Amino acid sequence: MRLVILGSGRGSNAEAILLAQQEGRLGPARVEGIFSDQPGAGILALGPRFGVPAEFVDPAPFRTKLEGPGEARFIAAVQAARPDLVVLAGFMRVLKPGFLQAFAGRIINLHPSLLPQFPGLDGIGQALRAGVKVTGCTVHYVALEVDAGRIIDQTPVPVRPDDTLETLGGRVHAAEHALLPAVIARLSEGRMDQPRAPTSPPG
Ligand code: GAR
Repeated sequence: MRLVILGSGRGSNAEAILLAQQEGRLGPARVEGIFSDQPGAGILALGPRFGVPAEFVDPAPFRTKLEGPGEARFIAAVQAARPDLVVLAGFMRVLKPGFLQAFAGRIINLHPSLLPQFPGLDGIGQALRAGVKVTGCTVHYVALEVDAGRIIDQTPVPVRPDDTLETLGGRVHAAEHALLPAVIARLSEGRMDQPRAPTSPPG
C-alpha cells in the first residue's frame, strides 16, 4: 500500500508513521511522499531524515481551503506519487470536491477529539472548555463536510480535573501517535474495511 502524507505543522504524527514503518509496525504500507502547504513546516524535515520525498506545494490563492490553482497543484503532486491511501496528518486546509474526487474513498484524516464531538479547529481546547470527562482522537474517511465521514477508529483519553491545554494535549497527541500507525497497518493488511467510494455521511 502506497501512502502519501499531507501536513501543515510539526509532523509528529507523520514521524510516528515513519517510525512505525522503520520498526516494521506498518504492515506492507510504505510512505512514498510528504507534501505540505507551509514552506517552513517541521513535517518537511522528515523527508531527508527518513529518505522520503518531501515537498512544499504552493496552495495559493486561498488561505484556509484548497481550491483552484493550489488544488490543481496538490492533485498533480499527490497523483505523481500514485497513492493507495492519502493520510491527512495535521493538514489544516478544507478539501474541496476536486481533490476529494481525485482520490475518492482513499483519504483518511486524524482529528484530536472523539468525533462527532468538537469538529473544526482546536479540538483539544474545545473539549477542555466544554468540561467533558473524556475526549480522545479519531481517524476517519474524509467527506465533503469538515471532520465528517465514516469513523474508522477512536481512542478515548480521560480528562483530569487539573488538565491544561498542554497536559491534555500531550496525552491526546500520544494517543494519536499510537492510533494512526495502527489504523494504517490494519488497513494495509486488509484487517479492516478497505477504502471505498466516499461521500455518503456516516450512519
Ligand atoms: C494533530 O493533533 C491532529 O489531530 C490535528 O493537528 C495535529 C497535527 O500535529 N489535526 C486537526 O486538528 C485537523 N482538524 P502534528 O503536525 O504534530 O502531526
